[in-house]
Amino acid sequence: MPSHSDFISQRALAVDASGIRKVFDLAAKMSDPINLSIGLPDFDVPEIAKIAAIDAINAGHNRYTQTQGIAPLRDRLRKDLSTEFGRDVGEVLITSGVSGGLLLAILATIDPGDEALFLDPYFVMYKHLLALAGGKPVIVDSYPDFRFHADRVEKAITPHTKLLILNSPSNPTGIVMTEQEIRSAVDLARKHGLLIVSDEIYEPFLYDAPRGLPSAAKHYDGTLVLRGFSKSHAMTGWRLGYAAGPDAIISQMTKLQQYTFVCAPSPLQDAALKALDVPMKEAVDAYRRKRDLVYDRLSKKFEIARPEGAFYIFPKAPNGQSASDFVTKAIQRNVLMIPGNVFSERDTHFRISYATSDKKLEQGCEILLSMF
Ligand SMILES: Cc1ncc(COP(=O)(O)O)c(C=O)c1O
Repeated sequence: MPSHSDFISQRALAVDASGIRKVFDLAAKMSDPINLSIGLPDFDVPEIAKIAAIDAINAGHNRYTQTQGIAPLRDRLRKDLSTEFGRDVGEVLITSGVSGGLLLAILATIDPGDEALFLDPYFVMYKHLLALAGGKPVIVDSYPDFRFHADRVEKAITPHTKLLILNSPSNPTGIVMTEQEIRSAVDLARKHGLLIVSDEIYEPFLYDAPRGLPSAAKHYDGTLVLRGFSKSHAMTGWRLGYAAGPDAIISQMTKLQQYTFVCAPSPLQDAALKALDVPMKEAVDAYRRKRDLVYDRLSKKFEIARPEGAFYIFPKAPNGQSASDFVTKAIQRNVLMIPGNVFSERDTHFRISYATSDKKLEQGCEILLSMF
């Protein structure tokens, strides 16, 4: 009998989750931490959606749905997205979270050796999902301003490049791409024949964009948009997202969903449809105030790019120390954050999530400012 670890695939071994695990191990030892590490809203699912989920379960909507999701939800999302983008976005596929959409998008497009470009810092899943598909992540440094520098991105394009993955508003920096940056990304995609995968999961959390989110989908029909309900409606555990884009790609993703996730959670799709009518302005306004609270305080001492969306801020560790060392020291002072090397090839910055109470934020900022 071989040892149990002999059964493990190279694919599984290619995924390294050690960075985030270290943080969780440290966190497990803390009692009542000032927890600035959590990547989810601190408000609850809107009441209307909870009731709709319970009603759907009681009404017997507990079976598989069509692979692509229930028609009323898909139709509504297609209509809303088409209005927003000023063109028909094509088919919509309801996915098991944006994570599900990302996995299906990568499996549907990436062959071994194909390359996908994205900015550093990045949402950590991109790298690992590409590894699972045998694709090559090509990671383009965006420090220190975390903006989209078209010249740097273009230099990284090769004949093997297939995808340009954009994430705006960004996790972990909170940066929102400008209209001009979006247009330069679209120009590159057109010129080099790339598919843009636009991860817009933080779309409602925009603090300085009265005209809405600049999106490649407005300008380029080679854009696959991924959005979801995890962050917008605090439904991280409901596992609901959606993908909209070129029919040829959505239909391959649907086929792959049929043999993997099968469908997104059935009764919760009914509830998501109801959730679309709940105005989330109050929550966004509250997070804008929290962004201001944290940025105004920390920017007195820390080097920070001002976040414009999502609920993260990504300051630089002070005095040239590594982010891992700084985060370890902060944890000893009861403040829990995530070191930047979890999201980056560098270990210089750290991520704070400000989706928590003002009191915790004030306490956390005070402790961090005392650490210079
Ligand atoms: C940028 C980004 N994309 C996708 C996801 C996945 O979200 P979910 O699978 O819960 O929809 C997250 C979650 O943190 C994220 O930050």
